[in-house]
Amino acid sequence: MINICIIGSGYVGLVTGTCFAEVGHNVICVDNNEEKIKKLREGGVPIYEPGLEVLIKKNVAAGRLSFTSRIEEGVDASEIIFIAVPTPPQNDGNVDLRFIEGVAREIAGVMKSYKIIVDKSTVPVKTGEKVAETISRYNKAKVDFDVVSNPEFLREGSAIPDLMNPDRIVIGVSSARPVSLLKKVYDPFNAPIMVTDINSAELIKHAANSFLALKISYANALSQICEAAGANIEEVANGMGADKRIGRAFLNAGIGYGGSCFPKDLSAFIHISEQLGYDFSLLKEVERINRSQKDRFIKKVRETLWILQDKTIGVLGLSFKPNTDDIRLSPAIEIIKQLQNEGAKVKVHDPKAMEKSKQELENVIFCETPYEVANGAEALLILTEWDEYRTLDLEKIKLSLNHPIIIDGRNIFDPVKLTELGFIYKSIGR
Ligand code: UDX
Repeated sequence: MINICIIGSGYVGLVTGTCFAEVGHNVICVDNNEEKIKKLREGGVPIYEPGLEVLIKKNVAAGRLSFTSRIEEGVDASEIIFIAVPTPPQNDGNVDLRFIEGVAREIAGVMKSYKIIVDKSTVPVKTGEKVAETISRYNKAKVDFDVVSNPEFLREGSAIPDLMNPDRIVIGVSSARPVSLLKKVYDPFNAPIMVTDINSAELIKHAANSFLALKISYANALSQICEAAGANIEEVANGMGADKRIGRAFLNAGIGYGGSCFPKDLSAFIHISEQLGYDFSLLKEVERINRSQKDRFIKKVRETLWILQDKTIGVLGLSFKPNTDDIRLSPAIEIIKQLQNEGAKVKVHDPKAMEKSKQELENVIFCETPYEVANGAEALLILTEWDEYRTLDLEKIKLSLNHPIIIDGRNIFDPVKLTELGFIYKSIGR
């Protein structure tokens, strides 16, 4: 059992802290948002993530998980301090590192004995060096410390299983001293531990996310060829993916990637590369293809319904992917806004993301069920592949719609079956 402090109780911090507690460590989560800490202390959970609430309750009850708004309290109680604060993009494409820098200074100010300070936030390569410099400068007591880079690879919606069964743990260090304690932290997770230098560890995160986005854009580019040639992107992706060197994951064509990571990490990595003297034009193309998927989808809607002015269109799915209420840079939201720009009236449903969407979308009709969305609509669009949409009663949907038209941006239905049922069915790359 190791005493761990996590600074930043957002998505990554809260889920990581909870999973550390679940495997038996003593965890204290810190956040400067007093309201959030109050809510957590009262048993509330500020984000939606499957399984998280149960796990928080269990570990708080077991006395292994607690919350505070005071960094000093967390630092005093812990041997290892994880930094998991936001690293948002700036308008110029640079990463805003002010929260990382601020936390580094605060830790330095209160540190009284040797500490291992681990960066978990996604940061540009060479940030660890800056953090170490900052801590040395502001640590008046001249206490020993080590800075470590330990990037997080969890996905929203499957954050807990991702964290509990990781493919690998990356630990970037500049000396051997912190390695054994970090290995003890991660020992219960039964995953390969890769020890690298700090710069390489930081790069692994941006390189991995950019490569996954590249895979998606590759599939999306192929989907265009499939449409032009009369081939089927699913078959092509299955055939390619069966090659172990390629793998089937992240080859699903659709309306493009969104969320709080891929768009941000790609533009950051392009920018970082530029600053290091390399024009990563390959990744610029990945971004361009991703943007064009939304336009291609709208074009399909226009080709089917012609003029959108005053037409009622039903939309299923708002979140950037299933099993999350997160709508940040969701392609669904962008498509809805474009439909509205063209004069369409939009009815929507999402199992989890309606509350958040109410702050983002205006003049949209929010419906309790997918059938209510279909009722009186000229066409039904699928924009997020929630499981519950795969099992819809399609006869009922057909009777509710003004015309039996489904335009599927996530390829959740079998085109042959839908045509047999009498639908005009369009999807991506098939
Ligand atoms: C991603 C990375 O997977 C994770 O390792 C990192 O820590 C954070 O960023 P996340 O953004 O939560 O995780 O979701 P992910 O499941 O990777 O999906 C990202 C986007 O890509 C979604 O919009 C999804 O719909 C899209 N996607 C994914 C596709 O369009 N096709 C695919 O084949 C896979």
